[in-house]
Amino acid sequence: MSDRPEMFEGTDRIWMDGEFVDFEDAQTHVLTHALHYGTGVFEGVRCYDTEQGPAIFRWEEHLDRLYKSAKPYDLDIEFSKAELTEATTELIETEGFESCYIRPIVYYGFDSLGVSPKSCPTKTTIAAWPWGAYLGEEALEEGVDVMVSSWRKHASSQIPTNIKTTGLYVNSMLAGEEARRNGYTEAIVLNKEGNVAEGPGENIFMVRDGEIYTPGLAESILEGITRNTAITLAEEMGYTVHEEATISRGELYTADELFFTGTAAEVTPIRSVDDNEIGEGTKGPVTDELQTAFFDVIESGDREEWFHYV
Ligand SMILES: Cc1ncc(COP(=O)(O)O)c(C=O)c1O
Repeated sequence: MSDRPEMFEGTDRIWMDGEFVDFEDAQTHVLTHALHYGTGVFEGVRCYDTEQGPAIFRWEEHLDRLYKSAKPYDLDIEFSKAELTEATTELIETEGFESCYIRPIVYYGFDSLGVSPKSCPTKTTIAAWPWGAYLGEEALEEGVDVMVSSWRKHASSQIPTNIKTTGLYVNSMLAGEEARRNGYTEAIVLNKEGNVAEGPGENIFMVRDGEIYTPGLAESILEGITRNTAITLAEEMGYTVHEEATISRGELYTADELFFTGTAAEVTPIRSVDDNEIGEGTKGPVTDELQTAFFDVIESGDREEWFHYV
């Protein structure tokens, strides 16, 4: 296992089309349709080591989104939600993970390389591996420096942006790498209209005058599950949340607070945009309160409707 990237150390098996195979054998053909045309749909899910034991956070919602993502592409997932759940929990148990990241992917495999995938088989795979804080532990405390990308997000009239398709992530890659080349941790991507959409792998929230704003689904954003979690927690804490907001680029610079949400990024404060300090240039009070509430839920695992206990 020594020639594997560090994040995959300790991962022995991957579930592929109904069976568990060794990591090294989890291969697919180079003429796979999805490799050429980006015709796959996927999920990113976290299993947390809660006080109730390992538990998958918002598993039902992630599964629902996977099936919704498959729909516009006529990808017929050959396994039921119950079968995918069983495969995932067995994978986590047999790998002995207390916490991990889970990556289900469904894609068109190899048959022909015409753009039409109609004769291609549907392949389904689930992998899991231990994965820490996506933007770094420090980012959760100190916040991240971000730049507004020169790349615009696909319009939702060009490709469905509310769901999770592999092909969409070339845009995320371009934006994220542009940011890192320029010394920033992450990007913010504007939509076709020039309004704020999201990060390459995160939704974005803004705090202004004690109220919370986040772009609506028509702004070319992924319908994030952590976004939903943050909205729910914030409303329970008594905040007014404008969840269908249109946010201009200028409003980013004058915001009291900004933060990202995502399965990978969890709740990450943004401390500057294009070198403009946001608020005091540290984690703001509303972000702090919400992040604390989020990690309280994750650590306790006692909000039953949000957990699938392994
Ligand atoms: C483009 C994009 N936006 C937002 C998110 C956040 O979504 P979620 O909270 O469901 O992980 C992700 C991550 O999956 C993403 O890739």
